[in-house]
Amino acid sequence: KRLIFIGPPGSGKGTQSPIVKDEFCLCHLSTGDMLRAAVASKTPLGLKAKEAMDKGALVTDELVVGIIDEAMNKPKCQKGFILDGFPRTVAQAEKLDEMLKKRGTGIDKVLNFAIDDSVLEERITGRWIHPSSGRSYHTKFAPPKTPGVDDITGEPLIQRKDDNAEVLRSRLAAFHTQTEPVIEYYAKKAVLTNIHAEKAPQDVTSEVQKALS
Ligand code: AP5
Ligand code: ZN
Repeated sequence: KRLIFIGPPGSGKGTQSPIVKDEFCLCHLSTGDMLRAAVASKTPLGLKAKEAMDKGALVTDELVVGIIDEAMNKPKCQKGFILDGFPRTVAQAEKLDEMLKKRGTGIDKVLNFAIDDSVLEERITGRWIHPSSGRSYHTKFAPPKTPGVDDITGEPLIQRKDDNAEVLRSRLAAFHTQTEPVIEYYAKKAVLTNIHAEKAPQDVTSEVQKALS
């Protein structure tokens, strides 16, 4: 399966991706996770991306298209993939079409994690992540067994630098102006399914599984 998960910050893309990935043996390609890893290790890519990410703006299309093109060549992605957080502009969606056409494939399904802006601040400000695996928790909605500690590795959890109310406003503005047209782009291609992303995590999982079965 070749899937795209689209939705605003905090809509649950990163929470549902690992579940779907395991179920269908796909690779999970999160441009946000890949960019954060590049920023943390101060690679040339990370140095270019950091400023935009810190203020909640999108990084350039060229940078993210480059990392996705490279990642899709990996052997583990040949069976299929989940694109989480990509494409986020119509230009990225067009580039993706070209990349897939070159490989003789296309997108099977796009899931739109639809949710009202008003619930996202609580989700974002309560999120804690395990940086090396990308696992995320929430102080209220998905607490770890021990506060501040990853359930599986016992390693410390951290908060993302852009997970505060102020930067969230910029991220939401970027979503509405630059990413909503991408939803329309896929609706026209008839590959789009809307998910009620405001439901409880397990109910969202059921809806996602139903959409993919
Ligand atoms: P990115 O990392 O993609 O961030 P985002 O799109 O803002 O999405 P989030 O990761 O915040 O949300 P999510 O939907 O994954 O939420 P989660 O499941 O964790 O991008 C970061 C930055 O990188 C961008 O701002 C940009 O600068 C750059 N970038 C990335 N891709 C780019 C691109 N293609 N082009 C240009 N720039 C790009 O859930 C959030 C919290 O809620 C968690 O704590 C979770 O436990 C909890 N939760 C999840 N589901 C539920 C539920 N159903 N009920 C209650 N709580 C829930
Ligand atoms: Zn995410």
